[in-house]
Amino acid sequence: MINIASPIIGQKERKLIKEVLDSKILASGKYVAQFEQSFAKYSGAKFGIANANGTTSLHTALLMCGIKSGDKVITTPFSFIATANSIFFCGAKPVFADIDPKTFNISPVELEKMLKKEKNVKAVLIVHLYGLPCDMDAILKLKKKYKFKLIEDSCQAHGAEFKKKKVGSFGDAAAFSFYATKNMMTGEGGITLTNDEKAAASPKEPTFFFLNSAP
Ligand SMILES: Cc1ncc(COP(=O)(O)O)c(C=O)c1O
Repeated sequence: MINIASPIIGQKERKLIKEVLDSKILASGKYVAQFEQSFAKYSGAKFGIANANGTTSLHTALLMCGIKSGDKVITTPFSFIATANSIFFCGAKPVFADIDPKTFNISPVELEKMLKKEKNVKAVLIVHLYGLPCDMDAILKLKKKYKFKLIEDSCQAHGAEFKKKKVGSFGDAAAFSFYATKNMMTGEGGITLTNDEKAAASPKEPTFFFLNSAP
């Protein structure tokens, strides 16, 4: 049998987990606050907001960027379902721009075609798939030209760098997953990163739409 993942859980992790269990503060305590700060710093962002998983972290990132019912968000068709679902959870509409067959990431050429075709695109949700960063030079050029909010789904790309800058620090907000099979894991968990102090302060709790009530 070949395991999908083989998480490393050493003595340090065991000791700290025991400390948390003994403290009886299991939902959010000093270690969560420390983790938010140190992961944000590691990734080159100012603020981190811990979440239940990568999906709620993506949802939080979209809400932070002001995505509302009826908004259009361009994303990639080649990702885990949570990417598109987070757009639906805001009541917004995903619009798919095709991938680059060489990288499997969103193609900046296809993205520009969609930005020209679709009017009033509020945000672009890119995915750094399989640990490979998207072409950030091209995407940031498009952001400047078309003025959309940029969200990075970095759920598979902890610590990945584009030209020595870590993913999660390029856009208006980013989301990471710490699910058991991810390259960095806490069993379940996630974090939303942003440099925007106001966005970091609110909203922290995603408000879920039922999928069948989305437009
Ligand atoms: C690209 C991508 N986005 C989002 C998610 C959602 O993360 P989670 O499973 O922690 O909700 C995943 C996890 O599988 C993922 O691979």
